This record gives sequence, structure tokens and C-alpha cells, in this order.
Amino acid sequence: MISGAAKIAGVIGWPVAHSLSPRLHGFWLDHHGIDGAYIPMPVSPEHIEKAIASLPKLGFRGANVTVPHKIAAFNAADELSNAAKAIGAVNTLICRDDGSIYGDNTDGYGFIANLKVGAPHWDPSFGTALVLGAGGAARAVVWSLIDAGVRHVILTNRTEEKAHIIADDIEGKIDVLRWNNRQSAVPISSLIINTTSLGMTGKSALEMNLGGAEPTTVVTDIVYTPLETQLLRDAASEGCQVVDGLGMLLHQAVPGFEAWFGVRPNVTPELRAHVLAGLAR
Ligand code: ATR
Repeated sequence: MISGAAKIAGVIGWPVAHSLSPRLHGFWLDHHGIDGAYIPMPVSPEHIEKAIASLPKLGFRGANVTVPHKIAAFNAADELSNAAKAIGAVNTLICRDDGSIYGDNTDGYGFIANLKVGAPHWDPSFGTALVLGAGGAARAVVWSLIDAGVRHVILTNRTEEKAHIIADDIEGKIDVLRWNNRQSAVPISSLIINTTSLGMTGKSALEMNLGGAEPTTVVTDIVYTPLETQLLRDAASEGCQVVDGLGMLLHQAVPGFEAWFGVRPNVTPELRAHVLAGLAR
């Protein structure tokens, strides 16, 4: 039940019906007994600028922004966090009291927070991180790795040019490896991350042989449908540490919820189970 004074936020996407964010934030709102709501907002690309500009005028506390609007949100924000500037995209909008809109990107934060919980022994300053893919998600992952203290990143992508653009844009030691040679980096990587859409239900398989990986190597996938991708299955059978991608979604939501509703929520097994039940629908 909400009152006339309820705090309102939501998620803007196109389409948005598949988004798990309303379920995720709804769980926290309920858990904390907050007078607030988090709603899905399907907004087509032609209306995105006006929709974002309307948020403060409609009294919204802010919104998450998902595909395909993260760059439009970056352009629409009045002020940007350092993470958003470095990543070049915004996934969290915060409406401020003066009517202005602050744009943040919490994808990198969510990625690292998930890794820290899922692989507590992982030491960012040790070894090389191998990143597969060079789309929007890769940009957030690469930036957050370097921000967390990773000293060497190897980036590989089918379209090599896109990997070079990320390597040029983000400060740090980032080497680009030919996609066809991606196997060669496995033995020297202490962390391997799939940021491509390969391995997702309905997409092609990610062909990646993890033979030669060290047992201390952490393997993670930002794909969470299925929760256990072939990459993670292979990693487990090689004896590597495995971290699934659902936690990144859960953790990236924390800073937005705190900014809009005034409580820093926790990522708990109950939250995970609740969101997983939404995935199974
Ligand atoms: P996101 O913003 O979620 O990262 P994206 O920008 O569409 O999504 O990026 C998808 C990633 O998956 C890219 O790295 C893409 O490689 P290209 O840059 O070469 O397109 C990668 N990808 C998708 N299909 C692929 C395939 N069949 N083989 C190799 N890589 C693929």
C-alpha cells in the first residue's frame, strides 16, 4: 500500500517487460516497509529525451535506465559521476531537489561487489584479467577492474576495433588480443569474464576451452540466463572458482535504491531466491 507521499522510481527500457528490476526493488521496498514504488516504464527511443526530462517534473526520485537507452541517459544528465564519465553510459538517474538530474553508472560497482562476495580470495592486484567482449557491458567491467586495482587487462572481441576503442578510452594497461587467439590467455589469467551475449539462452554458444586454467582462476559470466552457463560449467569441471552473473544485477541496484528511498539495502539469499523465481516465469 502506498500513500500520496510515496517515493517513486522505476526502470526505463524498450522493451522493459523482461526486466527483473521491479521485482528486485519491490522486494526491498516491502522488506523495509517503505512508502514507495518502483515501476516499469516502456519508453521508445523517439521519446527518451522527453521522458527523462519529465522525471523530476513528475516528482520521480529517479530511475534505472536499461537497453537501449544508457547512452541517451548519459547525454540527458545534468551532472555525471566519475564512473558514468569513464564508462560513457548511465544506468541510474537521480532527481535532485533543484530539479536537476544526476547520472551514475553502477554496473561496474555491481560487477566488482558480486565478485568480492562470490570469490573473496580474489586479489585484484594479482595477475591478469581476461575480458571477452567489447560491448557496453565490457566497458563497465574493464573500467571497474582497473578502478578496483587490477594491473593488467587483456581484452578480446570478435570485432577487434571495438576492443581497441575501449583500450584507448580507458586509462590503464589494457592489451587487445585477437578473438581467434583468446585461448592463449587462459593459463595466465587469474580472472576470466564473459561480457558477450554468447551462451545466453537462444544465442550461440561461447566457444572457450578453459584447459590450462589455474585452480585459483576465477571465472565469471555476466549472462545469467541460464544461471549456470556452459562457460561456468566448464570452469567448475576444471576446478576453477565460479561466480554467476545474477549477483551483478542484484548489487548494481543497491546505490540507486539507497539514493531514491534512503535505505542502503542488502543483497541476501532471500532477495536472490525472489529474483530467481521471477526468472523462472
Ligand atoms: P552489451 O551492451 O550488453 O555488452 P552489445 O553491445 O550488443 O551488448 O555487445 C555484445 C557483445 O557480444 C559484443 O562484444 C559482441 O561482439 P561484436 O562487438 O563483435 O559484435 C559479442 N558477440 C555477440 N555475438 C557474437 C558472436 N556470434 N561471436 C562473437 N562475439 C559475439
